[in-house]
Amino acid sequence: MVGRRQFLRSAAGTIGGVCLARYAALAATADSHIEIILDEPIGMISPNIYGHFIEHLGGVIYDGVWVGEESKVANIRGVRKSLIDDLKAIQAPVIRWPGGCFADSYDWKDGIGPRDARPRRTNFWVDTGQLRDKGNVPQSYDPNHFGTNEFVGFCRAAGAEPYLAANLRSLPALDFDHWVEYCNSPAGSTTYADIRAAAGAADPFEVRYWGLGNEAWGCGGQFTPADYAVEFLRFLAWIPRYGVDLQLVASGPNGGDWDWTRSFLEKVVQKGHARLNDIYGLSLHHYASRLSYGVAPGGRVPKPDALQFGDLEWYELMREGAKVESFVKGHWEIMGEFDTERHMRLVVDEWGPWYAQGSEVSPTDVFGQMITLRDAVFSARTLDSFNRNAEKVAMANTAQMINCINSLFIAHGDQYVRTPVYHVFAMYAAHQGGTAVRTELDSPMAHYMREGQDADFPALDGSASISEDKKTLTLTVANTDTKQPRETEIAIRGAEAKGCQVATLTSADIHAHNTFENPDAVKPEMRTIEASGSIVNYTIPPASVTRLDFALS
Ligand code: AHR
Repeated sequence: MVGRRQFLRSAAGTIGGVCLARYAALAATADSHIEIILDEPIGMISPNIYGHFIEHLGGVIYDGVWVGEESKVANIRGVRKSLIDDLKAIQAPVIRWPGGCFADSYDWKDGIGPRDARPRRTNFWVDTGQLRDKGNVPQSYDPNHFGTNEFVGFCRAAGAEPYLAANLRSLPALDFDHWVEYCNSPAGSTTYADIRAAAGAADPFEVRYWGLGNEAWGCGGQFTPADYAVEFLRFLAWIPRYGVDLQLVASGPNGGDWDWTRSFLEKVVQKGHARLNDIYGLSLHHYASRLSYGVAPGGRVPKPDALQFGDLEWYELMREGAKVESFVKGHWEIMGEFDTERHMRLVVDEWGPWYAQGSEVSPTDVFGQMITLRDAVFSARTLDSFNRNAEKVAMANTAQMINCINSLFIAHGDQYVRTPVYHVFAMYAAHQGGTAVRTELDSPMAHYMREGQDADFPALDGSASISEDKKTLTLTVANTDTKQPRETEIAIRGAEAKGCQVATLTSADIHAHNTFENPDAVKPEMRTIEASGSIVNYTIPPASVTRLDFALS
């Protein structure tokens, strides 16, 4: 490891780079340091870390994704075309569907066959406050127009792999077998293959990723971890494979529920150690939905507001979000006690900041919320933490893609906008498939007031990766400090830069967000900077996300 003192000594070398014009007058000497140590690889960054999630919930599927073939909204076989185009642009690798909690109430057979003959069902979320208040609205029911063929077609059009969440709470294991058969059995081989073909998909879908239940500790059945393990093993025993290398995901813990992971794995191992080899991933969910200051003991903590916030709520949200890295590390350690050969990895298939109702663009967009620069910085920090733990995290899916929680897109009818979180995914796509390398960040803390006391939070957070062809080093950095820019010395250990492209996402207003009327309020600014040698100085603006792509000599 390169020590800080040694780093400071060598920092006296070549200096390149420029500052954003508005910070040009700030200190000439660096106050922050980033060391990128190229010969300390962490692991390949699974492209699937940049995955997505859609659920039959409020305005996600109907209105968000599915507009129908007859819609005046431009569509590709019923799916909103601009959404497909934008997902392609960010190289969306994988999409999880149909839930969420909805998955454990969904009968996949309702969503196949001729669309106009499909049954209408009550949606899982019918009794949630946001719908209950609204009377008999379409969002309380599901016409099943968007089913397996439509979902797989959407994934294929967007260039993503499907990840299906099977119902373990309210359907028998045989239904799961049959869903696999429907998706993967060869053309002409089974009745289900024929139904699939009649809907225009003769070739098998070859779906690899399957989750068995969702949040089994809650809406997925309120199981104990040991009871869920028994169900999980029953579901995965003898699934037909059809030559597809199935990657099975077990419902895992909520945040730091260590007991879930330990007790689940204890039971799996009791049933036969070899079973561990069948598990591709253990899912982990973490939402930053409650901030932990000013709470009376036993008191109800309200969700924070999406648009009304000051420094306190900004930093406390970041603090809540940052917990995900300790959850990844903690669960990984426990997994290692059982899975000594490391067959299994973590699948963080729901994450994001979750706010109180009130900023959604349409009243029936359940859990819809406006996405600001705060969410972009939050998302960048989260993705950086996954990159830093590339050997542990196989997949992550932000919740949810459109019109719900940490959305990349907001849509209503023919209105559609890309949020600041979309731009983070676009900027961070450069990490997909690269090799994460150890990156040390050292910056002054950001300060704010918390219950009358000075509180602080690390300003800079980031990660770095080398592209497969080893020609480009990508460094992404979030500056969480709402006010202070950071004059940063970037030291590249083990190579030299010969040029640098920079993308910066920021705004003078931490509440900035994109709306239908003003879709480009927050968008990345691109520039080329001079950078040569192993030390580059760069000023990272406050409340920003920055990507630096160094060409390596
Ligand atoms: O993403 C919204 C909901 O949050 C999901 O349905 C559920 O899995 C989680 O509790």
